Amino acid sequence: MKIVVIGGTGLIGSKLVSKLREHGHEAVAAAPNTGVNTLTGEGLTEVLKEASVVVDVSNSPSWEDAAVLNFFETSTRNLLTHEAAAGIRHHVALSVVGTERLAESGYFRAKIAQEKLIKESSIPYSIVHATQFFEFLKGLADISVVGGKVRLPPVLFQPMAADDVASAVGTIAVGPPVNGIVEIGGPEQFRLDELVRRRLATLKDPREVIADPTARYSGAQIGERTLVPDNNARLGETRFDTWLTQSAGTGSAAYA
Ligand SMILES: NC(=O)c1ccc[n+]([C@@H]2O[C@H](COP(=O)([O-])OP(=O)(O)OC[C@H]3O[C@@H](n4cnc5c(N)ncnc54)[C@H](OP(=O)(O)O)[C@@H]3O)[C@@H](O)[C@H]2O)c1
Repeated sequence: MKIVVIGGTGLIGSKLVSKLREHGHEAVAAAPNTGVNTLTGEGLTEVLKEASVVVDVSNSPSWEDAAVLNFFETSTRNLLTHEAAAGIRHHVALSVVGTERLAESGYFRAKIAQEKLIKESSIPYSIVHATQFFEFLKGLADISVVGGKVRLPPVLFQPMAADDVASAVGTIAVGPPVNGIVEIGGPEQFRLDELVRRRLATLKDPREVIADPTARYSGAQIGERTLVPDNNARLGETRFDTWLTQSAGTGSAAYA
């Protein structure tokens, strides 16, 4: 089966392409540096030829409110239009657990807009809601600095390894469209501030992490369970300590 992975050179995309190939599928990594740009439409007609499934694990290069909204709206519209013309049977997109509860955040308004376009399109779909990736913990600290300190609310948090995200997305991509949302998460729950503090310590990052119930997550006020999935979520196997042992120091520049 030919499966086109939009964002197939990124953190999740590159792992997903490898896993699909290991399972005998023809997985094509589509991204600007492979000649496919979903913002402009460049290369889409060509890459979608003979494909059955499209998995969108792209992300906006800018997380500024207007830029990220434009990215997810324009790229999703272009993609779905080209998919309809190419007869794609299953559109899979990666989004975030709690997206619908995070509309105060510009990034999550963009993800809500992406999901709305998918639900309204004629293409059968599966939207995968993943919790935060372990690889994102430092990035989360970076976007949570106020007055030189990392401020995070001490809410429940159930992150997962990018490898487990890619495995789950791959399984869903080769299965039937659910025409709804599938939640995936990590095997353990933590407090958000606690885990970011532990991650910064392993990176020898000296920034102090303050537990602040009024601190925002990506610009949004959040509650105890905003970031955690329901009880029926599919859970990844990799525990945080195991991931640390296996992966510490191997993150990409964006995800150190
Ligand atoms: N971070 C988290 O904890 C988290 C949690 C749950 C869900 N998610 C979701 O997971 C998804 C993937 O995240 P990620 O961290 O794997 O992303 P990433 O590593 O930043 O990769 C983004 C990919 O998108 C590609 N891309 C950028 N602009 C494009 C364009 N105009 N046309 C086609 N491709 C383009 C990039 O290609 P180039 O490298 O060539 O620019 C790259 O392959 C996102 O949608 C995010 O919302 C993230």
